[in-house]
Amino acid sequence: MNPFDLVIKNGTCLTPWGRVRTDVAVRHGRIAGFHDGEARQVIDATGLMVLPGLIDPHVHLRDAGAGDASGATVESIPTGTKAAVLGGIACVFDMPNTSPAATDAATLATKRAYAGRNAWCDIGLYVGATKSNIATLGALEAEPGVCAIKVFAGSSTGDLLVEDDESLERVMRSGRRRIAYHSEDEYRLRERRKLFHQGQPYAKHAEWRDVECAFLGTRRLMALAMRTGRPAHILHVSTAEELAYLRDYREVATVEVLVNHLTQIAPDAYERLGAYAVMNPPIRDRRHWEAAWAAVADGTVDCIGSDHAPHSREAKARPWPDTAAGLTGVQTVVPVMLDHVNAGRLSLERLVDLMCAGPARVYGAVGKGRLAAGYDGDFTLVDMGAERTIEESAIVSPCGWTPFAGMRVKGWPVATVVRGNVVMRDGEVLGAPAGKVVPFT
Ligand code: DOR
Repeated sequence: MNPFDLVIKNGTCLTPWGRVRTDVAVRHGRIAGFHDGEARQVIDATGLMVLPGLIDPHVHLRDAGAGDASGATVESIPTGTKAAVLGGIACVFDMPNTSPAATDAATLATKRAYAGRNAWCDIGLYVGATKSNIATLGALEAEPGVCAIKVFAGSSTGDLLVEDDESLERVMRSGRRRIAYHSEDEYRLRERRKLFHQGQPYAKHAEWRDVECAFLGTRRLMALAMRTGRPAHILHVSTAEELAYLRDYREVATVEVLVNHLTQIAPDAYERLGAYAVMNPPIRDRRHWEAAWAAVADGTVDCIGSDHAPHSREAKARPWPDTAAGLTGVQTVVPVMLDHVNAGRLSLERLVDLMCAGPARVYGAVGKGRLAAGYDGDFTLVDMGAERTIEESAIVSPCGWTPFAGMRVKGWPVATVVRGNVVMRDGEVLGAPAGKVVPFT
């Protein structure tokens, strides 16, 4: 028998059947079994937790895959996936609001081919819904590498938007896989915009895009999802009201919460960070932060993402509301979440559920999400005792900033393995881009 490609020795593996002190062997990119053996490469994981490769199901890498990443000033597939593996992420799902937007088969094919050669981690691709591509969505969601259709039901960065019930229902009737939604009611957003003026404090963002914008958007989507029977994944749920409501729609709904909404609280975040707290849906007050943690605790939440949304410092510096909405996060989501684990807010097992099994289940990612024989040899090795400070100088996204700069955290990713390839070890990126486009059921 040929040697294994990789054996990870002496670590504590977070398996679906519990924490196990065991070695784990990889052959041909897949987990061969939980044992030692002759191997081309060995990692000594003494003192480390061996997690399934963590998945960030919500990133905006800004790269349509036309191959001109060298000119990318804020982010690209090569730089964003490098940030991912440095941060302990082994797989990302990339949003379609690029230029051009990923809304047709040709753009998807270009992006898929480019990502398959230039990504450092594995990657799934969202296909964006527009009012003019509705009839093609059923075919587009079946394209290789497509994790889901993404619908912006309220407008955010870019011009993707499907806001009216009739079009939303047509989207739901085109295709059958779970659809991911940005849920904010566009009509209420437009109405409320008139109540504010340029140059007001950045904290006004949460007043403009208020709780009812998000809650009304979600109520409308649930009514349509129930009528059509089409499964829905509500991205970045940010309000206590939606979290309480969505529990009653389990037959159609799954739920994502962001690391930002679990970590930053208004008004403090706006006072400390100004424009670097501005995102859609907004950072809200403590009541919603508490509800988000309660929903993590009681199982309402299926997935945690970063909503990594790079913008240039110039675009962020514009006065409110013209400032670019969106915060970077793919390189920091794991350290910040591990710090929450060490603070006792969730268990490491629940983190694995939210960042591995959850996204694999919600999107139907083949081979992802658990340490089990035959699954992909994806691992995130973490040192739960390491105390570090998140440094802005370590951010490799070309935009060069993080809203978590200066945060002291306990718990740090020390290695990232993608299908048996060790692509990050102790803060160094290793080898060549090994990422592949993920298959989905
Ligand atoms: O804050 C956000 N930024 N929310 C979104 O929905 C989009 C994202 C972006 O692409 O910048």
